[in-house]
Amino acid sequence: MREMFAQDESRFSKFSVQLNGLLFDYSKNRINVATIDKLVALFDECDVPIWRDKMFSGEKINSTEDRAVQHTALRNLGDKNSALTKKQLAVLLLIEAFVEKVDRSNITDVVNIGIGGSHLGPMLVCDALREISKPNLNVHFVANVDAEEINRVLSKINPVNTLFIVTSKSFTTQETLTNAKTARNWLLKSENLKSEDHFVAVTADVEKARKFGIAEDNIFPMWDEIGGRYSLWSAVGLSIALSLGVDAFKRLLSGAHAMDEHFINAPTDKNIPVLMALLDIWNQHFLAAATHAILPYDVRLAYFPAYLQQLVMESNGKSVDREGNALNVPSSPVVFGDVGTNAQHSFFQLLHQGTHNVSCDFIGVAKAAHDNQEQHDMLLANMIGQTQALMKGQTLQEVGDVDYAEHKVFLGNRISNTIFLNELNPYSLGMLVAMYEHKTFVQGVLLNINSFDQMGVELGKRLANDLLENIKDQSPGADLDSSTNGMIDFYKQNK
Ligand code: F6P
Repeated sequence: MREMFAQDESRFSKFSVQLNGLLFDYSKNRINVATIDKLVALFDECDVPIWRDKMFSGEKINSTEDRAVQHTALRNLGDKNSALTKKQLAVLLLIEAFVEKVDRSNITDVVNIGIGGSHLGPMLVCDALREISKPNLNVHFVANVDAEEINRVLSKINPVNTLFIVTSKSFTTQETLTNAKTARNWLLKSENLKSEDHFVAVTADVEKARKFGIAEDNIFPMWDEIGGRYSLWSAVGLSIALSLGVDAFKRLLSGAHAMDEHFINAPTDKNIPVLMALLDIWNQHFLAAATHAILPYDVRLAYFPAYLQQLVMESNGKSVDREGNALNVPSSPVVFGDVGTNAQHSFFQLLHQGTHNVSCDFIGVAKAAHDNQEQHDMLLANMIGQTQALMKGQTLQEVGDVDYAEHKVFLGNRISNTIFLNELNPYSLGMLVAMYEHKTFVQGVLLNINSFDQMGVELGKRLANDLLENIKDQSPGADLDSSTNGMIDFYKQNK
């Protein structure tokens, strides 16, 4: 890469794209024009445009669950023909009325109880945009079945002023229903409080929510065609609308819609999510970069790596293709990450000098959320400097005649993309999230896998349920493998 930059001053302009204040710089990949041409050909060869059309037109591309994939319809609010958009518009009206009601009430704390897609998206957005949140409303998120998490929240709040949102597409998820019951028991310890006044639900199974005891008017529907990890645009974003206001929620949707339009209309070699997916395949399959780091240089995006772990790995962590044949190439990369500059002082050593080839996405925001420009300059200098160091490295000659010179060599030629936003607001965040959604989708199509089911999470859930009975009773371990039995016995002896 060093040589390619030295030989071609136009490398940045060749290998970067800008869209509505978002810069995507992919010049620090091991590519040249011929590589991109070949990857663009791969895009057509794998019929990505056809699959893209199928998704946007509502065909049932989630074949194993016999469902369409319609999260993009949730943000195309001007579409008069989509039945799902029509339903979304109706739900937005419900949300608007509800937000007004809560604004006029004595509610000071909202607790979203949900996990996975019913948790990570809303938490990401509420945290990223907290500078524009309503000052008199605190939003909390509880996901884990570990009671420590809900206890920590309950110990800080007053039941009289609290609203719980039970968010679960299926309304069967063990963690969410258990936490919702714990919250309800806690609330009902206060005399005169009725759970109907303090609980609402977001779900695709209205009947189950009703049976749980949520009042009919307090149930916000979502739909089968919206996958959990693609659902923050639906009523799953209720906590976002409550915290930031409905206008901000709609701006988030319109940013995502702008990215949808770009994804549909931009030519392949200028199409940001498409390029991201193609580069990922190039890096993974041809350059053995099986690990992908997400590195936001902005504390507001601290939850973005966790959000993307679910989005990417739950979507594309598969071993069989659409037809059920074993894949003969790696599927999803392993995604991990943390905020810069903290990560520089933990795992960046491996990025610079380790033997793994890790591709990195750096994410920066030009405008600070505060007025400490000096520190913001430092932060961004670090981000840009790291991409430069990874690319250039440092030769033995440059290290010079010093002790341990070989230990100070950086091979360089390490891959990074940089996504730079002019500012972080609901619109740009909507674009950013939708960009990764489409990247993930394209990656799935290139691999010929169904990105929209998640059967790999089921076995562990079932076995945990089976073991629960055994763990609870006092009898010795059942007829299981020795490790499982050994752990159950250890637990029973020590709990
Ligand atoms: O266990 C995985 C999963 O099904 C995710 O796909 C989903 O986002 C999460 O659980 C929560 O599911 P639900 O919204 O139905 O409670």
